Formats: sequence, C-alpha cells, structure tokens
Amino acid sequence: MFDFTHAPQRRHSDSIKWHVQDDELPMWIADMDFQTAPAIVSAMQRKLELGAFGYEEPQADYFGAVAQWYQHVHHATADPEWMTFTTGVIPAISAIVRRISHIGDNVLVQAPVYNMFYHSIENNGRHVLSSDLVYTKGQYAVDWADLEQKLAEPLTTLMILCNPHNPIGRVWTRAELTRIATLCQQHHVVLLSDEIHGDLVLNGPDYTPVFSLDAELAQTTITLVSPSKTFNVAALHAATAIVPNTNLHASVDRGLNSDEVAEPNLLAIPGTIAAYTKGEEWLQALKQQLWRNHQLVTEFVARELPSVHVASGPATYLIWLDISSYGKSATELTQQIRERSGLILSDGSEYRGNGSHFLRLNFACPEAMLKDGLQRLKKGLAE
Ligand SMILES: Cc1ncc(COP(=O)(O)O)c(C=O)c1O
Repeated sequence: MFDFTHAPQRRHSDSIKWHVQDDELPMWIADMDFQTAPAIVSAMQRKLELGAFGYEEPQADYFGAVAQWYQHVHHATADPEWMTFTTGVIPAISAIVRRISHIGDNVLVQAPVYNMFYHSIENNGRHVLSSDLVYTKGQYAVDWADLEQKLAEPLTTLMILCNPHNPIGRVWTRAELTRIATLCQQHHVVLLSDEIHGDLVLNGPDYTPVFSLDAELAQTTITLVSPSKTFNVAALHAATAIVPNTNLHASVDRGLNSDEVAEPNLLAIPGTIAAYTKGEEWLQALKQQLWRNHQLVTEFVARELPSVHVASGPATYLIWLDISSYGKSATELTQQIRERSGLILSDGSEYRGNGSHFLRLNFACPEAMLKDGLQRLKKGLAE
C-alpha cells in the first residue's frame, strides 16, 4: 500500500546525504531513503496552494495533535499546557544548555552518543562530562556508581539523555529511566531527554517518554519530541518541548523564544499535524520494513562478515557494528570502505566513548539499495 521499494532520487539535489560522487552510496546521516507519509505531502500541498505565507503561531490543534499521538501511540499523557513549539531538537538542546546551565558547568552525557550533543555543550562554553556506557559481552549498560558520582559533582547542572539511544539503539526501560531521573533529582540536575527516535522501536516493548514518569520525578525533566526521524521530515524543522513543571516550562519557553527557535516555518504546523493525526498507518508499515531491513543486515553480517558484531538494540534505523577485531580504527576503516567500495558510513569515533571500534550504518532504504550497501561493506572490509 505504501511504497518502500523506490528511493526518491536525491542525487544532485540539496540533500546533505546524497552530495557524493555518482558511484558512491551514502548510508551515514540519519534520514531515510523513503518518501514520507502521503498524508503529510497532501497537507503541505494544501498549504502551498494558499500562496500566502505570513507569520504563524501554533494553536490548540497543533498541541492537541502532539498530545493525542503520545496518548494513543505510547499510552503517555502530556498536557498541551506543558508544550512549546521549537524549530528542532538540536536548536532546542543548545538553547536549553544556555538557559539552564551556566558557562563552565558540567553537562552530563552517556558516550557513545549522538555527536551534536557535544557541539551544543562545548560551543556554549560548558564542559562535557561523560558517564560512559559500559560495553561487556557485546552489550551496553549504565555504570550506575559512575553516573551517581558524576551527577553529584556540584558543577553538574544538566544531563542530556538519548531515549532511545543513538547510536546504540538501546531502549531504556521505565525502571532505568526512573533510576536516572531519581539520581538527577537527588543531585539537583535537570534531566533533558531527547526522544527524537522514540517512535522507532522496531521490535519488543515500546519506549517510555520521560514526561510520563512518576509525576514528582517528571517535575525536573524536559522532553524533546519531533516527527523528524519518524516521518523522514528533517528539513521541516519542527519539534516540541514538553516540560511538566510550570516554572521550568516558563524558563525553557523563554530560552527558546529569546534564542528565536520557537517560530514555525510555513510547512511546520500542517506537516506536524498531518503526521500525528494521519500518519500512524504509514508508520506501522514503515516499522515492518525497517525491521525486515534490520534482520537483513544482521543475517548478512552473521553469514558474510563473522568478524563484525552487531551491537544494536531494537530502536532506530541505525545499526552499530563492532569492528574491533579488525585491528584498525573506525576512522581508518570508514576511509578504507569508502575508497574501495564507495559506501559511506558514519565513523563511530564521532560519538566518543568506545565509538572508535564501531561503524554506524543507516539501513532506512529500499531492500535492493541495502543489499548493494552490504555487498560494498563486504568488499570494503575484505583483507
Ligand atoms: C538523537 C538525535 N537528536 C537530534 C537529532 C537532530 O534533530 P533536529 O534535526 O530536530 O535538530 C538527531 C538526528 O540524527 C538525533 O539522532
């Protein structure tokens, strides 16, 4: 019913991902080689036909659509009063870093993690303090003693959580999130949860939005959600901050507004409303395709590349490949693979922590393209 077999032709367009040589195949930056849900395109077309694009402000239907999505899809209640529109998750993270922490403070993260977190922290003159995830027997876990010790440092004022976690695909359980939020509260640290991948748990139990934790715990949290990854609309520049505590909400709202990242472009409101009110069926079909692709990669790696270990959880369309047995850094291997096969992957060292032993592959594309990518990976890694 929906087309997941043809990739939109983005070579020689303004796409960052596809700004590559003609014989190269990009499987790095996190957007998908699928068309978005038809209902989103129709809503945008209706808006364009109007032909008048003055200043706009999201109304109750926008916030209602966000609330209804989280209620219906994730069984989590978010009051529209807690919400502020923002032009993206990263613009919001940078604004919140500036608003909630001070220059010279520690902002806690869990490496390896999405590389833009580091930029949002360091470009604003704060220190990155990482409680690295521990990697044992091919799986990641939180080092609780280390996390507590680092949250307890007096200059740690903000923690940025990735829920679910890019690049490792882990879906944090309610128990783990409760423990993290409790430690943050005990040590007066605001918990900022980036949930951009929350709709993309491909298999197993759903993720838990941080705003839906126990009401007392949620008081010191900020959650950022967006249709961007879910519906492949990154250039829509639309996201929502959800902050249950009135004072903290006012502070975040002021931070987003004074940094001028709280006003929508002409397609952001209709695009988001269409995604959240008419996109569910498409998302279900997408997730089935993504899970098939996930399995295709896992099976290929097990069969053809036994020295590679798949270290990913069931969330996101990004797979985290442990290449430590090759005896070369991820930087060397990404270069080698690109030179030999034209396949472009993300170099795991960008995510810090133990990332220099990993490559990240984006498998959100038609199966034929993915198979081409996997053959290129094999060629690129051959001795
Ligand atoms: C964890 C995470 N947060 C944020 C973003 C980007 O968000 P935005 O485009 O809304 O700034 C990405 C994109 O890959 C991501 O993986």
